[in-house]
This record gives sequence, structure tokens and C-alpha cells, in this order.
Amino acid sequence: MSTQAPGSDFTGTDHGDITATQSWQALAAHQPHVYAMHLREVFAIDPERGRELTVDVGDLHIDYSKHRVTRETLELLMSLAREVGLEETRDDMFAGAHINTSEDRAVLHTALRLPADATLTVDGQDVVADVHEVLTRMGEFTDRLRSGEWKGHTGKRITDVVNIGIGGSDLGPVMVYQALRHYVDAGIRCHFVSNVDPADMVGTLDGLDPETTLFIIASKTFTTLETLTNAAAARSWLLEALDAGTDAVAKHFVAVSTNADEVTKFGIDTTHMFGFWDWVGGRYSVDSAIGLSVMAAIGKERFAEFLEGFHLVDEHFRTQPLEQNAPVILGLIGLWYNNFWDIGTRAVLPYSNDMARFAAYLQQLTMESNGKSVTASGHHVTTDTGEIFWGEPGTNGQHAFYQLLHQGTRIVPADFIGFAEPTDDLPAGPDGSGSMHDLLMSNYFAQTKVLAFGKTADEIADEGVPAHVVAHKVMPGNRPSTSILAPRLTPSVIGQLVALYEHQVFVEGAIWGINPFDQWGVELGKTQAKALLGTITQTDAPAADADSSTNELVAWYRRHRGR
Ligand code: F6P
Repeated sequence: MSTQAPGSDFTGTDHGDITATQSWQALAAHQPHVYAMHLREVFAIDPERGRELTVDVGDLHIDYSKHRVTRETLELLMSLAREVGLEETRDDMFAGAHINTSEDRAVLHTALRLPADATLTVDGQDVVADVHEVLTRMGEFTDRLRSGEWKGHTGKRITDVVNIGIGGSDLGPVMVYQALRHYVDAGIRCHFVSNVDPADMVGTLDGLDPETTLFIIASKTFTTLETLTNAAAARSWLLEALDAGTDAVAKHFVAVSTNADEVTKFGIDTTHMFGFWDWVGGRYSVDSAIGLSVMAAIGKERFAEFLEGFHLVDEHFRTQPLEQNAPVILGLIGLWYNNFWDIGTRAVLPYSNDMARFAAYLQQLTMESNGKSVTASGHHVTTDTGEIFWGEPGTNGQHAFYQLLHQGTRIVPADFIGFAEPTDDLPAGPDGSGSMHDLLMSNYFAQTKVLAFGKTADEIADEGVPAHVVAHKVMPGNRPSTSILAPRLTPSVIGQLVALYEHQVFVEGAIWGINPFDQWGVELGKTQAKALLGTITQTDAPAADADSSTNELVAWYRRHRGR
């Protein structure tokens, strides 16, 4: 791909009142027909849908047939996407237009995974060359760590890497490191500290040897209170434990940031800093230098496979017609429920214990991106935005919240993610056939089936269930889900999965006409916390000057802290 960015004259994705568009109104008129249908009926009249309402991208096989959509619904959703110019907005993003209008920035996480021979010039700069220059430096550094050539202050090799960061500078590396547990191959264990609650730092440092520990301070801005506070605590711990001067910092601290000045102020030499750019949003940065801890654990070759996975889905998203485009289809189905069914939530259920942090990762990706109430040009939106994402790995969730998914009054669309080959396996036990992994996956298939088709009162009564219990056992079904399958949880596959969701966020945001790439809503709480810190810590500080509730709460806290 060779592209020249169209410059910074991008005017935004605002389409005015989206609900006034022809396609929106057609969808609203169509919804009651679909609402009245049961998935049992939909499958009966369209028996090929289980085979045909599927899409393959890279290693991912995606079945969206168990959704409350007909083929007509899908056509109408595609018309909506075309009416609001989704393809043009997508092309603008890939080309480096400043689609993050409130910050006047390009949005180019897709450039982080372009191959080295691609070119993309943005604002006069060859961004592919920049990306690969940093990747090369990351590779050299992690090679030295992994081989033991990089030594700590006392001459010992590094065995433990602690990534200190929060939000996008934490959730991605944590999630991917855990997902790729089986690829950790050079004796480097990673740990992650994010919370300003000291329990996080203390609990992590407990048992670590300062002589063999290296800290990665990961912060795009290098001004984030939690991260800088934790970084300072880590530096004190290290220098005290080693009884060393600040020269030890060079051997035990590196930084990942866009802010060289602040990195230098902290005491880290910029030769030990790995950069990225303002066109990489924090929640889109796991594939930038923010992934340094992951590269240290799995090596640069595996990290390259991780990036290839993203790129595969990027190319699919960029080039495939909307009707065969996985992120477009899934994003539009998410929007269909959000806006035409008043369902604001989506469960993400990986049948993979190694993906335990995937839902937490997606929460930032999706909710910090699309939790907006104004359009890109600042007008109040005319419809709901921002699906609420949550989830837990199967089968744990089955014994917790699935009751509500199956028989509750609310409909919760769910994404099931599963793998053919296990990362670990054990025999299923004397009575079971197959292995524990087969048992896990039989639950995956059973749950999506039961959610969709349920069990009727007649079927239950026919089993001899007493009449007064029948109603309690009825499984209504008609509960929608997406099934995502992949051969195995590899570096490439985890990259593919992340990109699949990144682009769904984009599709929804583009149709709502909002800017998914800023996050002004997190700022006020930060400044007010800073302002209140003085009040709660100083004995002679005046009482808080806020509302009566906050004043009382602060007074209670001060009393209990003896202030
Ligand atoms: O507070 C929200 C946020 O700005 C996220 O968007 C970001 O991922 C996180 O804080 C951490 O920011 P930084 O990487 O600059 O420390």
C-alpha cells in the first residue's frame, strides 16, 4: 500500500440527525417484524443461514447466523453504512486524515502494523519508516534482555520485567502476555502494575529481586498521575534495596512514551526510550512500543506475527465489500441492537482461560472510544451510542451470570470465542470422552445453541416435569450470539481478534457521527482528585468546599485518618 495523506482539512464524520436518514427510518420500520420472529422460525424458513451467514477473515471463522436479523435486516444495515459514507470515512482513516477532529490528529494505529516495504506519508512524514525504526530498536533491546547480555546494576541478568502503566499502557500488554503464555520462551517473566492503590505495587514487588528486575515505564503522555507515582515508588524501592546511586536507574528503567522531555526529567536517558506518536491512541497502542513487555517475553519474531495478524484484518476491513466485511457486519449488528432494540450491552465470552483479560481490554477499547454524547462537530447526538462491554471466560460465566442471559427479561447479545486446538489439555476423566478441552468446547456449542433455540413448555412437559415446575424450566431462546472460532490462540490470532474489535468500534462510531478517538470525559475527575488531595491530607486544611455530600464524605475520611 502506498498512500499520501489528505492533510488536516478533515471536517469530521457528523451526518446531522442520523435518525432522519432514509435507511435509519427503514430500519426502524423493519424492526417490529424481526422482533416478532423467533430464531427457531428464522432458521426454519432460511435453512441455509447457518452455513451462509458466516464470514472468514484470516484464521477467524465467524458465524453471525444466530442473530435477530434477517437477510433484509443486513441489507438495510448496509444501506445505512453507505448512506453515511462509511467506506469514505474508513479510507480517510487509513490514509491519515485528521479524523480525530477535537485533537486535530490522524488516527493511524493501522500504520503500526504495515509491513516495512509499505509507504504512508502523513503530514509530510514517512510513518512506516518511523514505525520500523522503533520496532528495530525494540528488537535489539529485547534480544539483549532475552540473551542475558543486558545486565542489571550488579551484573546479573534480568529475569523479571515490571510494566508500569495504566489504561491503554497496561490493559493491552497484560491481556496479550496472558493470552500468549505458551510463547514465553526466554525466562523473562512479566508483571504489571497499574493502580495507584499501593497494594498493586507492594503485591507485585513482593518476591521480586531488585538485582534482576527491570521496569518499563509506559505512558504516552508521561504525565499520568498513577504511572508517575508508581514509577517513583519503584525507583525508590530499587535504589534503596541495591543501596545504589541514580546511575543504577539506567540499568533498571526504560520508558515507552511520546514525551521525551518528561522521560528525561524522570531520569531515564532517551537512548532507553521507545517512542510512538500522537496518532496512536492509548487504547490502540498495544501493537506500538507499548507492547515492549510482550516482545521481551515472546521475542521479536513472535511479535512480528502478532502485528501480521492485525494487518491481515486491516486489509480485510480496508478492501472487502461491506457485505463480506467482518468488522462491518459485526459493528452494524451491534448498532442494530443498540439503537433499534434499546439493548445497550454486549457480553464477550472467551472459552479460553488464557483470554481472561480480554473483556477488560475491550472495555477500554470500546467504551472509552464510543462513550460520547456529542457528534464530531459538537452537536448532541440524537440516538444512543456506546455499547457496554463486559464478560468472563467460559465456563466460569455459566455458573455466575448465564442464568440471566438464558431466562432473564433482558436480552444480552454475546460474542463467544473458542479454539480448535487447546493451549493446554488433560484427559476428561474416567467417564468422559475426549479431553478437557473438548468438554470446554462442548459447552461453547451448547450455550450458543440453547441461547438461540431454548426449550418450549411442551418439550419440558413431555419429559414428565410436574406442571407447576414447567414455567420455571422454560428456556425462551431467541437470545442472539456471534460465534468466533480459530484454530489456535497464536500471536497472529490475538492480533486478528483485537483488530476485529478495533474496526467494529470504528464502524459504530462513524455511523453515529461521533469521534471515537478522544476521551475528554476522563479529565475532570483527574483535576478534581488533584484539588482534593490537599484537603484530605493536610491537618490544618479548610474543609472541602464542595457539595454537602462530598464535604461530609471528606470530613468522615479526615476524621478516620486523624486529620
Ligand atoms: O485517562 C485515560 C487515559 O488517557 C487513556 O486514554 C490512556 O490509555 C491512559 O489514560 C494512560 O495514559 P498514558 O499512556 O498517557 O499514561
